Amino acid sequence: MGEIVRLQKYIAMCGVASRRKAEELITEGRVSVNGEKVTEQGVKVEIGADNVTVDGKPIKTKNKNYYIMLNKPVGYVSTAKDQFDRPTVIDLIKKDLTDVRIFPVGRLDYDTEGLLLLTNDGDFAYKVTHPKFHKEKTYIAMIKGGMTIKGMNMLRSGVYIDDGFKTSPAKAEILDAFDGHTMVKITIHEGKNRQVRKMFEAVGGTVVGLQRTQIGNVELGNLPLGRWRHLTSHEVSYLMK
Ligand code: URA
Repeated sequence: MGEIVRLQKYIAMCGVASRRKAEELITEGRVSVNGEKVTEQGVKVEIGADNVTVDGKPIKTKNKNYYIMLNKPVGYVSTAKDQFDRPTVIDLIKKDLTDVRIFPVGRLDYDTEGLLLLTNDGDFAYKVTHPKFHKEKTYIAMIKGGMTIKGMNMLRSGVYIDDGFKTSPAKAEILDAFDGHTMVKITIHEGKNRQVRKMFEAVGGTVVGLQRTQIGNVELGNLPLGRWRHLTSHEVSYLMK
């Protein structure tokens, strides 16, 4: 069911007139709901279900755009529907945001966690994911064992994955090493399937944990795992550039 709002608010939401002016339109008998003229105030309509006309012309709400950042946990697929019925990232959002159709911008593997963007704006998704816009994606990878200087330098100059595809030079630095593992920060701007895992495989490393922390300069920050927030207008305009 769509949201239920007062008729004058709906007319204003459609960009036809201010709420006060909309009240006047109603009083003047210029507004109809489902073919019936409405002249009294206080009538409510359901967005998307009721047909409203002003001076005989149908009016429609402008589509609101949603730009969301989720801290995706491991164990969720980043598609709207999974063929194996596993939990999806949409499940994490739709409990708070009903009646909004959003989709993930690019994807994170089932076993990857961290920053995932979701939207209903196809142009935004295109600008974030298409390699020609060079949006850098930063990951923290936990590698089993150590990393050699040679391996790190190979990541930095590009490695072969996927039948001869050579990755562009990446930024890569070792952040820490403990308990037989090495923590590496890596930044890439392509988005091949399982690219980061394959890049480490190509230099003899095994990724045992992977988290995306940043897209361009938009950071996951301290958003808790499994939670989401709206992007700020500043973040949206930066990512749209
Ligand atoms: N690279 C990977 O290997 N996995 C992801 O989920 C994202 C980038």
